Amino acid sequence: VSRTERVAERSGSWSADGRSRAPLLVPDLPPEVPFGILGRILPTRRSAELQLELHPLERDAALRILEHAAASAESEVLATPSGEDLERRSLAGRAATTAREIGRQLALREQELWRVGVTFLGTGPTWAHSERIRDEVAQELATLGFRSRIPAFAAEPAGAVPGGDGLERRPSGYWHLLHTDGLAAFFPFVDEAVCEPGGVLVGLLLDDAGPVLIDRWAHASHSWGIFGTTGAGKSFAASLLALRSHWLDPSLEVLVIDPLGEFAGLARALGGDVLELGPGGSGRLNPLDPVTTGGDGAEKAGRVGSLLRALFPSLLDEEVAVLDRALHRLYAEGPQVPTFSDLLRAVEREPAAAGRLPTLLQVFTTGSLAYLDGPTTLALDRTPLVLSLAGVPEDHRAFHLSYVLDTVYGRLRASPGRRLVLIDEAHVLVHHPGSAEFLDRVVRQVRHFGAGFLLLSQHPEDFLRSPAGRSILANLSATLLLRLTSVSSEAAELFQLTKSETEWLPRARLPREVGYSEALLRMGAAHLPIAVVASTPEYEFLSQVLATAPSAPEAPGVDTSRNAPLSREGDRTPPAHDRR
Ligand SMILES: Nc1ncnc2c1ncn2[C@@H]1O[C@H](COP(=O)(O)OP(=O)(O)O)[C@@H](O)[C@H]1O
Ligand SMILES: [Mg+2]
Repeated sequence: VSRTERVAERSGSWSADGRSRAPLLVPDLPPEVPFGILGRILPTRRSAELQLELHPLERDAALRILEHAAASAESEVLATPSGEDLERRSLAGRAATTAREIGRQLALREQELWRVGVTFLGTGPTWAHSERIRDEVAQELATLGFRSRIPAFAAEPAGAVPGGDGLERRPSGYWHLLHTDGLAAFFPFVDEAVCEPGGVLVGLLLDDAGPVLIDRWAHASHSWGIFGTTGAGKSFAASLLALRSHWLDPSLEVLVIDPLGEFAGLARALGGDVLELGPGGSGRLNPLDPVTTGGDGAEKAGRVGSLLRALFPSLLDEEVAVLDRALHRLYAEGPQVPTFSDLLRAVEREPAAAGRLPTLLQVFTTGSLAYLDGPTTLALDRTPLVLSLAGVPEDHRAFHLSYVLDTVYGRLRASPGRRLVLIDEAHVLVHHPGSAEFLDRVVRQVRHFGAGFLLLSQHPEDFLRSPAGRSILANLSATLLLRLTSVSSEAAELFQLTKSETEWLPRARLPREVGYSEALLRMGAAHLPIAVVASTPEYEFLSQVLATAPSAPEAPGVDTSRNAPLSREGDRTPPAHDRR
């Protein structure tokens, strides 16, 4: 036995073809792993390998094994007197249930049972090199709940290439019995499903810079949400997506409901149009025009009722009742396209006491909203089209957003086709029950008209407070979570975030720190930590045309070199991909 070989055996490595190999076994698997963990343990930059040896078990043998496992777990439950060793009892109980469940799935041929040999291998030109990589892998595994073991004195049998019959001598800790789902967790093909043909680039995986391309039109709902604190890059990410969608399909109509007037430059630069809707704006959208409900007066009456409740949240029940009656009469009796003066007259004609209603409504005839009293003068047919509320005072924002949404919805319904509708500061709509319910309905129905929404908001919590808000979130096919100030347990539950994802999101890096924004992209069961990165021309274009909202802090340190590697350090490490 030569000296090198002895050293090698003791430290659990061996050498072949000029490369040293340091194997690592994982005798204990954690009860739960995120899908695609291999992307984290074996990123392409680490010279490590995984060797998997798989042998499917005969079904009868597998059923016998499961039956035996279930029976012995059940007898352990019975043998542990209640009150004693609760943890052991509940563990055994769980094992029994799981074994029975897998047995059932096996009988239905939904699963198989596999004998699986697992060896991780650090590789390198020298012993030291391969063993250092093995140590790193062991550390990653430990943080994910695996217990690993170096097969000292059995390095070669642990890592030898399988012959095919599963009969080689293997050290203990090599073999595992897994069902198909468990085995799937060891497969690294996590990235394939995020390169959808015909999709736009949403970002690069933080792990290995693999591109994430998604075709929103290929999913049942075409609508997405983007959440993040001020300065996290919501407006930028949404513009980037809109820009890339526009390039891919120049005929795609893009509409932006823009409360802060940030997107005007973008629309103009792309040959589109900007409608300024505040006082002294470019013209008028008549909120009372029943064209938005396809001429359905009763539906329009209801919609205007909730619009006005968003503007006058203090209306009393009696006042609301009078308003509703007046509205229904107005739409039944005409004029066909009423104005606010017509509505005020209808309210004044109501026999019941109208309370403060006439006075409140005067804001539309002689007050600060009088510019809305009259027929629609603006057309929505240019693209991209920005509906800017920059000139609207904050306490009128919800009202304006609501009728603009109504107008846009009417347009989507009147001529279905592929459209991308971006709504910034969407929480404003969610804060009022009426507009939240309307937005919920719109998000659920627009898919039938071929349109998709991009809803931008700061805190997902704003949506969690009401059933309508929760329903909106549930109807988004993808959610991009940028840096969040905090993640409540309700949000973590709704988005099914793991603990590490929940802890990472408030630390996700900001564009002003690194020149791109870090995000967690949720799509179906996939949770992908990505960087939203613009190419140099995209960045230069967008930073020229986008106006940053006055409330957003300046971003002095933006790294414009644009080629900075996606470096990571310390506690900023993003969570592993998760596709449960
Ligand atoms: N992905 C990105 N790459 C480069 N710069 C970005 C990126 N996202 C945002 N920025 C810059 O960061 C600043 C804040 O972004 P913004 O989209 O306005 O944030 P938010 O809408 O979330 O408040 C802007 O100056 C913007 O140009
Ligand atoms: Mg913004």
